[in-house]
Amino acid sequence: MRVIIEEDYGAMSRRAAAIVAAMIRDKPALVLGLATGGTPIGLYSELIHRNREEGLAFSRVTTFNLDEYYGLPPQHEQSYGHFMRKHLFDHINVPEGNIHLPDGTVVDVDAFCRQYERMIDEAGGVDLQVLGIGADGHIGFNEPGSSLASRTRLVALGTRTIKDNARFFQSNDQAVPRAAITMGVGTILEARTCLLLASGTNKAGVVAQAIEGPITSQVTASALQLHPHTIAILDQRAASLLRRKDEYVRSETLLRELRAGGPG
Ligand code: PGA
Repeated sequence: MRVIIEEDYGAMSRRAAAIVAAMIRDKPALVLGLATGGTPIGLYSELIHRNREEGLAFSRVTTFNLDEYYGLPPQHEQSYGHFMRKHLFDHINVPEGNIHLPDGTVVDVDAFCRQYERMIDEAGGVDLQVLGIGADGHIGFNEPGSSLASRTRLVALGTRTIKDNARFFQSNDQAVPRAAITMGVGTILEARTCLLLASGTNKAGVVAQAIEGPITSQVTASALQLHPHTIAILDQRAASLLRRKDEYVRSETLLRELRAGGPG
């Protein structure tokens, strides 16, 4: 895994945006996997800025979101459909028909999940998947114990996740959904590149487990160690408990020099 450590949240977000933008410029019909939560909001603001100020075009980009609460319609203020419109889609030129999120209102969930996987396949697979990491180590809503081969499916949220997400809901945590539809770990691992973002001291422990700990279904982000092209972009705080932190920094510097100047 390539580990990039940036000074703070702003620098992490700009670095991530630079990678997303370069990939869109390289392949204008990029299939972009997207995440919700507090972490990618800075990345999305940067992308909006680049769309407006630098002409970064989303007109041929297709998006697939990782997950959606089960039971919330897309108009619901706390649905991820709403979140994505508010923080990204309403502000860039991505065509409505190119946007995909799991539908939290479907009755035949299993059929829907199979269809979601089919739509990803038909789009040619995800080129770049943006990921946050939950305090319990989840990617998407793949809570501890999720099979590392899991596919898109209905899942029960862990108590830690329900607690963490309660901050987004006005009332008490009774209103927080208990279930979600999420891409599986196996689905995520099929993306050609994964971009894992983490910021803040509260993520430091779980980031260290995911990057340097054993690969385990108890920390589903650790499955990214099996992925050939994962880039983790962390701020200093989220990186603070990495044992090999200095090595990652050294390696990034050396590789940058070698790419710029060749082996001599
Ligand atoms: P956060 O959530 O970005 O709000 O910390 C991350 C996640 O749960 O994946």
